[in-house]
Amino acid sequence: MKQAKISSIQAMEILDSRGNPTVRVFIELDDGTTSVASVPSGASTGENEAIELRDQDTSRYAGKGVLKAVANVNEKLSPALFGMTVTEQSLIDQTMIDLDGTDNKSNLGANAILGISMAVARAAAKSVRLPLYQYLGGAGAKRLTIPCMNIINGGEHSDNNVDIQEFMAVPIGAPTFREGLRYVAETFHVLKKILKKRGLATSVGDEGGFAPDVASNEDALETIIQAIEQAGYKPGEDIAIALDSAANSFAVDMKGAYDLKWSGAGKMQSSDLISLAKDWVKKYPIVLWEDPLAEGDWAGFKQFTQELGDKIEVVGDDIFVTNTQYIQRGIEQGIANSALIKLNQIGTVSESIEAVRMCRDAGWRYFISHRSGETEDTFLADFAVAMDGGHLKSGSASRSERIAKYNRLLEIERELGVSAQYYW
Ligand code: PGA
Ligand code: ZN
Repeated sequence: MKQAKISSIQAMEILDSRGNPTVRVFIELDDGTTSVASVPSGASTGENEAIELRDQDTSRYAGKGVLKAVANVNEKLSPALFGMTVTEQSLIDQTMIDLDGTDNKSNLGANAILGISMAVARAAAKSVRLPLYQYLGGAGAKRLTIPCMNIINGGEHSDNNVDIQEFMAVPIGAPTFREGLRYVAETFHVLKKILKKRGLATSVGDEGGFAPDVASNEDALETIIQAIEQAGYKPGEDIAIALDSAANSFAVDMKGAYDLKWSGAGKMQSSDLISLAKDWVKKYPIVLWEDPLAEGDWAGFKQFTQELGDKIEVVGDDIFVTNTQYIQRGIEQGIANSALIKLNQIGTVSESIEAVRMCRDAGWRYFISHRSGETEDTFLADFAVAMDGGHLKSGSASRSERIAKYNRLLEIERELGVSAQYYW
């Protein structure tokens, strides 16, 4: 069969879920296939993430415009990729990396490069008539992902007395994805009622979770347990809990000193946070903990993993930034046992797949993630099934840019029929 070639690449500026500009890319192939992809954007970003190119022209969108990235797609990347075989994902991605010429994609912009990379994968899948999850994951891609649903927010994602950035409900005991989604969506609705009854706010944050002014971190945990039970589920059996401390946000020096400023718990060292975590893991059904310590606190991370790594999944987000250079070091030094995978942290589909492969080879897990700034693009859902990691986070049971991914997973499950799998 003749492999289709790229005949046109165009980009435009659109808005993400926060109303900030981002890049959308359109691709056409010489067999008539077309595809579109849109790039997400983070807020609590790691120091070593690939660079999202913003115009810095304060007369537009407070400097956040992406017209330069759009121009880089239209004028620099598009001519370089013209005529390339669309199924050569790695070669296309490498061509863009070489053309950029920097370590962090700061020249052409990770937003420009990722938009093309995603649109290329999608166009290739369409051209060879495979669903995207199968094109990227092969015929064996049939495992759905457990939806780790972000239902309470703290830290920089809210104005309450909670230091932990994300509290997620994890439907580990559901038989299927669609049942799992129902378990946690119902819990989300019950949680809303509980919060209302207590006179707390039920407006939602960027990722669709609540940001109530609960009394403390533990109050948030207790309230979630209550919601799980009142929704008719058993905590720890049907629904477990996952946390993202996003500890960069309360680190004093990135080397092991912290200030739990929101809860008022005050100054702490890594060892204090680890003792606290051990206590909570005993008391609550926590199965996963992301960024329990700051990105520069490798020693603390290692200690945390030594103490808790046999009980829970310890995920590095800001510390690894989906970059194999840092994940490799993390594996060698036993820093964690899982890495968060965010496509725009590294900037191409191929490099994200490399990061996943490195985790898998080391016996690590990997946790596929959205960004706090998202679009209606559902690439993430197909990517998560293709990578076969078993779980993802895509926000709450509200806000369409979050739900779009969950709905796409429902479609994939339906398409897979009896061969669909679902397990932690
Ligand atoms: P971000 O936050 O997308 O704003 O970086 C999500 C996270 O910390 O996991
Ligand atoms: Zn995180």
